[in-house]
Amino acid sequence: MADKNMTSLTIRRPDDWHLHLRDGDMLAAVAPETARHFGRAIIMPNLVPPVVRMEDAVAYRDRIMAVVPETANFQPLMTLYLTEETDPSDVIAAHKAGIATAAKLYPAGATTNSASGVKNMSAVRPVLEAMAEAGMPLCVHGEVTNSEIDIFDREAVFIDKVLKPLRKRIPDLRVIMEHVTTQDAVDYVRDTPKNLGATITTHHLIINRNHILAGGIRPHYYCLPVAKRERHRIALVQAAISGDKRFFLGTDSAPHIDPAKLQECGCAGVFSASNTMSCLAEVFDVAGALPKLEAFSSLNGPAFYRLPPNDSTITLTKGEPVDYPTHIQTGEGPVTVFDPGFPLHWRVDA
Ligand code: DOR
Ligand code: ZN
Repeated sequence: MADKNMTSLTIRRPDDWHLHLRDGDMLAAVAPETARHFGRAIIMPNLVPPVVRMEDAVAYRDRIMAVVPETANFQPLMTLYLTEETDPSDVIAAHKAGIATAAKLYPAGATTNSASGVKNMSAVRPVLEAMAEAGMPLCVHGEVTNSEIDIFDREAVFIDKVLKPLRKRIPDLRVIMEHVTTQDAVDYVRDTPKNLGATITTHHLIINRNHILAGGIRPHYYCLPVAKRERHRIALVQAAISGDKRFFLGTDSAPHIDPAKLQECGCAGVFSASNTMSCLAEVFDVAGALPKLEAFSSLNGPAFYRLPPNDSTITLTKGEPVDYPTHIQTGEGPVTVFDPGFPLHWRVDA
């Protein structure tokens, strides 16, 4: 039974199993935000051009390390962006050399910078088979892209039309269904005993589609996959607080400068790196599940990736509401920090 009066919680240092750091001036501004609280992060490869080959990942990792504060002790875990031209031997070599922790499957056109992604799944079958044999995890953006499929149904249709057939064909492939947003995805993962995990973002635990659309359109809550109905949000919270090892934190913190969000065709992405742990503590506290926060943010992810949890800890302390900046400044322009819409009472001491 959770202690309603709990005011302090020390947990293993969390990891972020899905993060966008971008490049250049944006990278320099956002990397320290994650490195402040997190030990490791799976770094998304959707740069322009994308991180496709081992040599791209080595160079990107070096650019990240150059801007992470020395005191931070932060390790980026790199991913390779699968294209229909990907050479399986390069992916496997990158994994075996400890350069690429995982590879990322973007269906072409699914989201930001996914144009070079995969249109025809059979084109990547050889690389997926090689990854299964090597035990290399596949991170999946689980949405179909057909224009005739309603945007709110794209995740559920992806499960039926792409993921189930793929897992049947290559059952040994270790798949992470990323940023799940539906009860359908939660049920599918729960019903799958082996080789399937899922990340859940901070914002999808907090917002539903009303937050984006009711009473005015709120571009800073627009992301992909788009937030769904309240019953789906509740299913995500239940999964996150359950302690089930198959569910773990991947913030999908995805910075875009405000002018890119606030325009006729605004970019998808929520930037939550700065206040994620305070937001999560609030969500778990309200749900009476603070003792399960460590499993979700610090233990289940490493277990799926077959890595040890971090040695160090962070302490969360409950008190007067913590003020987070509404924006961070970057060399490219301001980036709005996720507003959960409620006060954050949990301070993080890293
Ligand atoms: O909202 C999103 N933003 N979803 C994604 O899948 C990509 C990300 C980005 O890179 O901006
Ligand atoms: Zn993402």
